[in-house]
This record gives sequence, C-alpha cells and structure tokens, in this order.
Amino acid sequence: MRPIEYQYDDFIVSTDCSRLDRDVIHRFLTNSYWAGGIPRDVVDRSIDNALCFGVFEKSNQVGFARVISDYATFAYLADVFILEAYRGRGLAKFLMECIVRHPQLQGLRRWTLATGDAHSLYAKFGFTALHRPEGFMEIHNPEVYKPKP
Ligand SMILES: CC(C)(COP(=O)(O)OP(=O)(O)OC[C@H]1O[C@@H](n2cnc3c(N)ncnc32)[C@H](O)[C@@H]1OP(=O)(O)O)[C@@H](O)C(=O)NCCC(=O)NCCS
Repeated sequence: MRPIEYQYDDFIVSTDCSRLDRDVIHRFLTNSYWAGGIPRDVVDRSIDNALCFGVFEKSNQVGFARVISDYATFAYLADVFILEAYRGRGLAKFLMECIVRHPQLQGLRRWTLATGDAHSLYAKFGFTALHRPEGFMEIHNPEVYKPKP
C-alpha cells in the first residue's frame, strides 16, 4: 500500500512504516497499562502486520497508532499514544481523523477498539459503547507478557 502523509502545523502523520522509530514505540508500549512488558520482537511483528500511523515532529516520533484490518469489512484500532510532552494540543484528534479517513479503511462494516479511559476521544470519531455487549466474546490474556514462574 502506498504510504500517505498528512500535515498538521509542524507535525506529520505518516503511514510509511520505514519512518517508524521502533525503539520509541517499544519503550512506550512496554510501559503502557494495556501491553506492559511486551517484548520487542512482538512489537516488531505487530508493526509489520498492521497499517501503522506514526506522528512525527521533523524526524522524531511523538505518537503512534495501528490498525489491523482486512481493508474490506473490519478494522481494529490499537496502541494509540502521544508522548507525554506533546499531549493536549490536538495531536490525537488529528491522528484519529487521519485514521478514519484513510482511503483503504472506508465502507467497513465494523471498527472496534478497547480503551481504559479515552472513550470521549474516540466518541468524537463515531465510536460508541457496544450496542449488544452480549453478542461479543473475547479471549483476553493480560498476563501473556509476564515472565513464567
Ligand atoms: C489519550 C491520548 C492519546 C490523547 O492524546 P492528546 O494528543 O493529548 O489528545 P488531544 O489533544 O488530541 O485531545 C484529546 C481529546 O480527547 C479527550 N480525551 C478523552 N479521554 C482522554 C484521555 N484519556 N487522555 C487525554 N485526552 C482524552 C480530551 O479531553 C480531548 O478532548 P477536547 O478536545 O474536547 O478537550 C494521550 O493522552 C495518551 O497517549 N495517553 C496515554 C496512552 C493512552 O491512554 N492511549 C489510549 C489508549 S486507548
């Protein structure tokens, strides 16, 4: 897929995988509440097999998100973050706009995501609580990255 770039003030959102700073992404995710302890090789694989959106100030990566999709019916949004020093200036909203408008992600029947506390961010882009939570199932293994005893 041809990479796309979007400009926002001095920042760029890019889907060019080769621009990503995998050290920054791994450092953030391995300390996050949802993927704590995630190994570097797992982050690498997750990047290699997703449509990734990097947020950059010049060449420095300051934010990230990735979408897992069949580009036809379904997409799952994951690993959204903006580095702390860059928060509160609209970057996550711009990143979300780039994601939901991406040409390969149009006409999907369903998008899903999981969030601890950022519901109102995603609500701005059409996400709602599950209409029929009883119709959804999951396999969730939050201990998957914990060292085995
Ligand atoms: C959530 C996060 C991506 C927001 O980034 P940001 O660039 O500061 O966000 P923006 O400046 O674009 O504004 C976010 C908007 O969503 C709202 N919001 C909702 N939940 C929020 C949350 N948990 N944190 C920050 N903003 C939140 C803000 O109030 C703001 O709305 P407003 O414009 O009406 O005031 C950032 O705080 C972050 O990386 N947090 C740590 C990682 C995380 O929790 N990621 C989400 C996992 S689902």
